[in-house]
Amino acid sequence: MSEGAAKKEEKPRKFHATRGTRDLLPPETALWNRVEQTAHEVFATFGFGEIRLPVFEPSDLFVRSIGQETDVVQKEMYIFEDARGEIWLARENVRNSIFRPAERSSVEVLKGFLNDFQVRIQAALRSGEVEHDPGQSQYYKYFSDGVEYFNKLVVKDPSVPLQFLDKAQEEIERMGPFLKHAIVGVRIGSFVVLRPEATASVCRAYIEHGMQQLPQPVKLYYMGPMFRRERPQKGRYRQFYQIGAEVLGGSDAPAIDAEVIEMVMAFFDRLELQGVQLEINSIGCRDCRPKYVELLRAALLKVKDKLGPDSQRRIETNPLRVLDSKLESEQGIIATLPHIAVHLCEECAAHYAAVKHQLEIRGVIYRENWRLVRGLDYYMRTTFEITAQGLGSQNAVCGGGRYDGLVELLGGPPTKGIGFAIGEDRLILSLQESGKAPAQQGRDVYIAWMGERAHATAIRAAKDLRKAGFSVELPPVEQKFGKALGQADKLGAKYALILGDNEVSEGLWTLKTLADGSQAKYTEPDLLAHLRKSL
Ligand code: HAM
Repeated sequence: MSEGAAKKEEKPRKFHATRGTRDLLPPETALWNRVEQTAHEVFATFGFGEIRLPVFEPSDLFVRSIGQETDVVQKEMYIFEDARGEIWLARENVRNSIFRPAERSSVEVLKGFLNDFQVRIQAALRSGEVEHDPGQSQYYKYFSDGVEYFNKLVVKDPSVPLQFLDKAQEEIERMGPFLKHAIVGVRIGSFVVLRPEATASVCRAYIEHGMQQLPQPVKLYYMGPMFRRERPQKGRYRQFYQIGAEVLGGSDAPAIDAEVIEMVMAFFDRLELQGVQLEINSIGCRDCRPKYVELLRAALLKVKDKLGPDSQRRIETNPLRVLDSKLESEQGIIATLPHIAVHLCEECAAHYAAVKHQLEIRGVIYRENWRLVRGLDYYMRTTFEITAQGLGSQNAVCGGGRYDGLVELLGGPPTKGIGFAIGEDRLILSLQESGKAPAQQGRDVYIAWMGERAHATAIRAAKDLRKAGFSVELPPVEQKFGKALGQADKLGAKYALILGDNEVSEGLWTLKTLADGSQAKYTEPDLLAHLRKSL
């Protein structure tokens, strides 16, 4: 078969959005826009300003703030080494020839790759292109030693394929683990993460821009995509969207907690979100929580045999997370565990009581849930979650809480903090389920034109109508009037503006109301005035 024929037969690959990601299409995007516009408006009335953050950040930022033992950090982060270019290629060559023996062609080639990479890494370290990292120096040393050793190998004929060169093969095998270890460890770029959430980023920005110098507290909100490698299902995606807000600095007055919650509820109220339920809890502070966690651990150890493997593991790593369990068989046991509310220190108990009081003054209805511990490590005291209707098992549409100390943990001054994030995908789903979704995006006017002269007039009419703010569909090629009216109907247009030779010569344009089929003629200015009145 000729090359051309083979190409013809080859079916082009069909691409799909990556698992856990999806396209958002009209008319649904109109609802997304409405939700986001409402957030801008409502949050502004509470004095919040928008912050736009990078989509990727240093991985340590999240490891340190969210916590090493959390699901997000352990299993769900999209993490990669931020490196490409010549030096990356040089390292790939070494890695490939060491790790894929079948592909390493000859001692000579491997030697070339090793030396090339070594020269480049040394130059890059000198120039600062690759950062000197104390944890890394041992790997650079291993690697240099490995290369030196390799260079000393006595190879009679360096062009002989490696597989056949017993002596060299032996040497390489001996040196292999050593060099492998080094080449896996040698970093040429820092590790970055597609952000799994934004609270840590907001804290980073607060520190980086010296926002503690501004009038406190600083009130910021954000919206945008987040990334977690979870198992996709309804309401759970790998790229999902959050709308969140954070209050940083100033005091930890319970009124701040309550006002933040009041703001989310006001936002949901404005959107007419149905079945909204707010749950709150206090998980104590650095003083009282560890004591409670020990108490919980002791209680859990007594019933360990009755728990599933996940909870058994969590007795050691993070006993609070056992309270999160949705396993049916564990519910009875969990109900018997000690409640944190009775183990809060005096300050935390007073803070919690005041938050509840502040919510009541604001008319915010809540339910206490002593098991609400949240899955991220930075929380202390107030935690809350909001659920809405129509979401199935992934029904948390918003989660948040207080995180005093997080800014300090990230190298900033001691700072109070509280905030929340709304899962926008879930919010939209719930609005759609309750029939709050906009219908197909219609058009105000469909221009049905026929003939060259009419086309020119139609183009001018479209321009003027759009300028006046109407949405206009102007077909690019001539259509018979019958077909044009059918198309107008399909697009959900309210009016059809009919422009033929007669209309153009008379200067009277025909406007058809598609809902009832009635027709009237207008001069151009009258038509505009009529549309302004009726649309
Ligand atoms: P979070 O509970 O991890 O908290 O996420 C907040 C919300 O994001 C969840 O309630 C849910 O609606 C949505 N969400 C989370 N993961 C997914 C997913 N895979 N697919 C769809 N939606 C999802 C935080 O992220 C904290 N940063 C909230 C916060 C701000 N706390 C204080 N300030």
